[in-house]
Amino acid sequence: TWTPDSFVETTVKNLKEKLGNDKVVLGLSGGVDSTVAATLLSKAIGTNLYCIFVNNGLLRKNEFENVLDQYKNMGLNVKGVDASARFLKELAGESDPEGKRKIIGRVFIEVFDDEAHLIQDVKWLGQGTIYPDVIESVSATGGPSATIKSHHNVGGLPDFMKLKIIEPLKMLFKDEVRRVGRSMGIDDELLGRHPFPGPGLGIRILGDITAEKVRMLQEVDAIFIQGLKDEGLYDGVWQAGAMLLPVNSVGVMGDERTYEKAVVLRAVESTDGMTADWVNLPYEFLQKTSNKIINGVKGVNRVVYDISSKPPATIEWE
Ligand code: XMP
Repeated sequence: TWTPDSFVETTVKNLKEKLGNDKVVLGLSGGVDSTVAATLLSKAIGTNLYCIFVNNGLLRKNEFENVLDQYKNMGLNVKGVDASARFLKELAGESDPEGKRKIIGRVFIEVFDDEAHLIQDVKWLGQGTIYPDVIESVSATGGPSATIKSHHNVGGLPDFMKLKIIEPLKMLFKDEVRRVGRSMGIDDELLGRHPFPGPGLGIRILGDITAEKVRMLQEVDAIFIQGLKDEGLYDGVWQAGAMLLPVNSVGVMGDERTYEKAVVLRAVESTDGMTADWVNLPYEFLQKTSNKIINGVKGVNRVVYDISSKPPATIEWE
């Protein structure tokens, strides 16, 4: 019978045999799949695994620093590459959702390819592909592997994509990946994280993206997510996040009239992201969260809650 421990044991043994002294490069996203894949590979080949974690500037507040620290504490050979400024510059003025996705995907590939070239004699590309990704083609959960799959450009493949592919989780479902991760001692908090799209906050800022909008949405999102955790609601929700709308609305603050941004909070229940229901979060929680956001985030004067299910609405707004 299948157990997480036996899976780890056999997989590590097979990876050792298959990879020998070869070097592997792998893109970490902060998500469950790439983290578990990296941990297995690291057990098998140690520092011959080169992990790259790219900050596209569209991650959650403090996520790059926190997750990078976590990876280092786990003993992974990881390099953090802060490419925020490059992403923001390339995204400037683009407001079309697919246009933004294309830019984010392309720049990710460029940054990753540059980094992969710095590793001498790398032979393999490690990926956190899981079984549903194999049968679907586009991953619902995102991360570098999904980004790579859906964005190979027309001018020929970048060099790292010509590497041999190694995908240790290819036969597993999500819950099995979590169990394998747990059996290797990966932090429960990391394993229980909500799915987060590859293009990150870039598709939750409706319209064009600026550094100031990213800052605002990071603050809003952090208040919402921390609130869900504090109230014990986080684990009961499949995915949650906030959107920044490209409209201003009138408000009052003291005796001043304000004309500032509106944000949307969204929390859904789902099993695979293909269909989803909005979550009936307690009114008191919504009230408290709304107050914290409006009082705490400069530039936001209105909070609304999304009560649309998928279909016909999607989970993300773009
Ligand atoms: P939608 O908005 O299509 O989202 O209902 C379903 C799931 O997919 C995630 N998502 C993405 N993940 N790149 C990704 O890696 C994307 O472009 C993308 N768009 C949506 C979304 O967060 C949800 O989990």
